[in-house]
Amino acid sequence: MRKYYHFAFIILMFLGLLASCSHHEQKYRIGVSQCSDDIWRDKQNSELQIGAYFHDNVELRFAVAYDSDERQIQQIDSLVETGIDLLIVAPNQVSTISPAIDRAYDKGIPVIVFERKTNTKKYTAYMGADNYEMGHLMGEYVATRLNERGRIIEVMGLKGSSPAIERHNGFREAIAEHPGIQVVATLQGDWTEPTAYNTVKQWLNKDKGAEKIDLVFGMNDRTAMGARKAFEEAGGPLPLFCGIDGLPGENGGIRLVQDSLLDASYIYPTHGDQLLQLAVDILEGKPYKKETKLMSALVTQENARVLLMESEEIMRQSYNLEQLHEKANEYQAQLGNQRTLIFVALAAIFLLLALLVGIYMYYLQRARIQDERMEMEREQLDFYTQVSHELRTPLTLIQGPLDQLLRTNDFRNASDEARELFTIVRRNTHHLTGIVNKMLDAQVGTPIQEMTSAQVDAITVSHPIAVPAAATEQDEDAPTVLIVDDNADIRTYLRSILQG
Ligand code: FRU
Repeated sequence: MRKYYHFAFIILMFLGLLASCSHHEQKYRIGVSQCSDDIWRDKQNSELQIGAYFHDNVELRFAVAYDSDERQIQQIDSLVETGIDLLIVAPNQVSTISPAIDRAYDKGIPVIVFERKTNTKKYTAYMGADNYEMGHLMGEYVATRLNERGRIIEVMGLKGSSPAIERHNGFREAIAEHPGIQVVATLQGDWTEPTAYNTVKQWLNKDKGAEKIDLVFGMNDRTAMGARKAFEEAGGPLPLFCGIDGLPGENGGIRLVQDSLLDASYIYPTHGDQLLQLAVDILEGKPYKKETKLMSALVTQENARVLLMESEEIMRQSYNLEQLHEKANEYQAQLGNQRTLIFVALAAIFLLLALLVGIYMYYLQRARIQDERMEMEREQLDFYTQVSHELRTPLTLIQGPLDQLLRTNDFRNASDEARELFTIVRRNTHHLTGIVNKMLDAQVGTPIQEMTSAQVDAITVSHPIAVPAAATEQDEDAPTVLIVDDNADIRTYLRSILQG
């Protein structure tokens, strides 16, 4: 029985193990440290997420530093603490974030620097567009747009961030080639619209706005729109506004160009899905490119409509993909529930079976014990019956001859004392016979013994069994009796009674 329980326990453990181990694979935890929070980063994060959908073993952990160096450093350190397998980082500024990146890299964590650069060599791969080229192309465009003649303002991105530095260098080098274009001011922004608005407003207030400005180059679309707002408030003829980012969607640069709020923009590629694939390739030890340059394109009044249509189509497909993924998630959750349910049901069925077998075995054991007890009782009864019978024969042989003796004349003439002694013997013999009879009756009365005491008497107690036979030659007329008994004394005694 104990063995049986051990067996059941082992099977249950096995079922449990099956349930827990059936879906186990290595998970890659990828930390994503974003320097800012804006629609460009949102787009990239959701592309990263979509990219992760294609790998069920990838978990993304996002951190946003809201343009703060300290916050980004602290976030990178805590991402490393949580045990990430790879770090993707867009460093807020070129030099400030490097110590944290170095720490992660030195711990053996692969690092992908994307979009913004650092001054550390400790990174595994870099992915991003060529910001110098972008600035240069924008300078070329501006010169062409203004027919080589005009006054422009440049509103920079965050000081110390690599795209701001590179875009500026590219832009200024291109402009330098066109002496008719005059950069009347280079204002400091920080990639945000409010800062651009404030700086441009201040500059305009200082009465410098009196002279006509032909074009404002904001280093991103939000900067360009901030400048536009300041110019609109200041009144007077509006210059052209150019930006960079060229995002799709409601407030994106493509629509702004389409709606003529911006004159031009430059698509600054996000490519989150490609970034994620690079991360997975590194994690899986596959070959990868150390430097990946993302291609880009200018958005102007001519192509804005087409680009908008295309980008909206892509957005629609992304949305559909998102929906599909949600559905797939739901199905997976359902599948998981069903699997758990099946295991629970199997375990319940197994337990029930085990219980039934247990009960069956218990009753089997009980029946066996009962059988053994009944067998013992029957043997005991047989023993008592036999002993009673064994007692009864000699008792009959004492009591019968004694009764016979007491009826003879010899005994009537015996002394009083002798008669009294014989009477005592006779009475006690009768008494003993009574006890033996009672014992026999009691044993016969048990359910096992099915014969009545009368039957027992007939067979075992009434020893004299007379069988008529042919007459002997001694006396032709006298009846002949054949006595059959296994006890010689009984036979002798019966013969003595029947002789007369
Ligand atoms: C987004 C953003 C873009 C800009 C880029 C520069 O966070 O500010 O608007 O082009 O970063 O790194």
